[in-house]
Amino acid sequence: MADQAFNLRKHAWEANRNAHYVTVSSGKGGVGKSNFSVNLAYQLANLGKRVLLFDADLGLANIDIMLSVTVSATIKKYIDDKATIDEIIKKDVYGFDILPASTGFMELTTLTDAEFEKIFNIFLVLDSRYDYVIFDTGAGISDAVTRFSSIADSIIVVTNPEPTAITDAYAFMKIVSKLYSINKMYIVFNKVDDLKSADITYNNLKTVVSRFLSIDLQLLNHIREDKLVRKAVRLQKPVSVLDPNSFYARDIENCVRSFIGLPSVKKTNEKVYTLFKSVFK
Ligand SMILES: Nc1ncnc2c1ncn2[C@@H]1O[C@H](COP(=O)(O)OP(=O)(O)O)[C@@H](O)[C@H]1O
Ligand SMILES: [Mg+2]
Repeated sequence: MADQAFNLRKHAWEANRNAHYVTVSSGKGGVGKSNFSVNLAYQLANLGKRVLLFDADLGLANIDIMLSVTVSATIKKYIDDKATIDEIIKKDVYGFDILPASTGFMELTTLTDAEFEKIFNIFLVLDSRYDYVIFDTGAGISDAVTRFSSIADSIIVVTNPEPTAITDAYAFMKIVSKLYSINKMYIVFNKVDDLKSADITYNNLKTVVSRFLSIDLQLLNHIREDKLVRKAVRLQKPVSVLDPNSFYARDIENCVRSFIGLPSVKKTNEKVYTLFKSVFK
């Protein structure tokens, strides 16, 4: 990113932009980033926000498949000057827009400066149309993944409570914080089956990243393990659409509310709901 003109445009845009840019990252794959991103987009849209979900997993795009969206042109066509950005965006998918990537086209590590600049230029055009732009990034800590963090207002790290996922989340936070001097991040523990021990893990991690990385790590919420997620992927619908009262949808709802500064919704009916589900399923 040596180009001075690009840097000047980037700074001007950062100072004046309208939308809030959010990256969803993890380090480890399979922790639940894409499902989280889809449901985050859906629930923000449900609260009246204008949302664009960018499938920023450029190597293994799958948002379109998760939501059964037919993609006619992907970001590759835009980069090759064969399509305009408006020809690529899928409008109003469950209330939010999608910018699809294309499977197998770009290796995660081979996003050149010119390609990234072209992707970045999309947001100069789209910025005023959205309140939130969400980047669902790929796994790993490649250049392509970390670059999206460089233009984000908020970084949400998704992890599972297992040590391998935590280690990779830590590695991600370490690299990004060093590269871009970021000192605040959000974290979500996903696929949690024991809320108390997830809390202990979170508190330990918070202490460590505060001490060694100088990052203020804020928990959005724990998201419980929920069989409905797999079913939703099979049915190609967001869990929050399939069952807004499921554990998953409600936990995400509280993530979203915490993220935008609203009080969490109490889960007073949960016991009744669980009983109801076990009787009628
Ligand atoms: N809270 C959850 N409970 C149960 N299964 C989940 C949960 N979150 C994600 N999954 C499952 O984990 C797998 C990976 O999810 P995905 O969102 O594709 O992860 P990533 O984008 O991080 O690779 C999927 O099979 C999905 O159904
Ligand atoms: Mg994914």
